[in-house]
Amino acid sequence: PRTAAVIPAAGRGVRLGPGTPKALRALGGTPILIHAVRAMAASRAVSLVVVVAPPDGAAEVKHLLDAHALPERTDYLVVPGGETRQESVRLGVETLPEDVAVVLVHDAARPLVPVDTVDAVAGAVRDGAPAVVPALPLADTVKEVEPAGTPGESERVVATPVRARLRAVQTPQGFERATLERAHAEVAVDGEGATDDAGMVERLGFPVVVVPGHEEAFKVTRPLDLVLAEAVLARRRA
Ligand code: CTP
Ligand code: MG
Repeated sequence: PRTAAVIPAAGRGVRLGPGTPKALRALGGTPILIHAVRAMAASRAVSLVVVVAPPDGAAEVKHLLDAHALPERTDYLVVPGGETRQESVRLGVETLPEDVAVVLVHDAARPLVPVDTVDAVAGAVRDGAPAVVPALPLADTVKEVEPAGTPGESERVVATPVRARLRAVQTPQGFERATLERAHAEVAVDGEGATDDAGMVERLGFPVVVVPGHEEAFKVTRPLDLVLAEAVLARRRA
């Protein structure tokens, strides 16, 4: 049974600022997406990478994959994405061939995840966990707030969860294929959709196992994250 990685890369990257879609922006002279594809293909466990491209950018993404050196033992597919991350992941999962039994879902926006983290997630699924997330403890204390009722009104704190019990989750998140498919078929999430895939599996009532995440698996979300990513890459290349 094969392990495949689905890479949602269809977002615009609104928080990063206007311009090229986030996944196609350069990091160390190479598109963020290519870094993410290489990070998945670097794992011996992964034999197929499915990239979910911006809806109107599938041809451009195919071109990019052809233009960059990628491991030859891995197959690559490109499909157009959807309006929400959740929809994009579903579209990627729908294209998986029958012999794929384990699926890693990895944000294109996490270009620097180390291969050891990818292997740890894939290994935990192969060892029998239906769903696996890499996670780190939090540095900041987190508050739950009551959203402001009217514009100009301040938010109010309603709770402070115990920080030691909180984790910031990263990707790749790993799944038994059938579990991930069931989550996408049965779990309804409105608005902008689910921000993470394991959350949908939790709603099914299935256990989600945590493995250690990695600092370098951070998500490029805001402009400062791009500064950090450039610095991490420069340190690796030194
Ligand atoms: N994503 C996707 N399809 C969407 C929205 C997001 O495939 N309709 C992907 C993004 O390309 C990204 C990952 O989901 O790799 C994580 O989402 P996020 O970091 O929120 O990226 P964006 O949605 O692009 O950024 P923003 O929310 O700032 O617009
Ligand atoms: Mg988003």
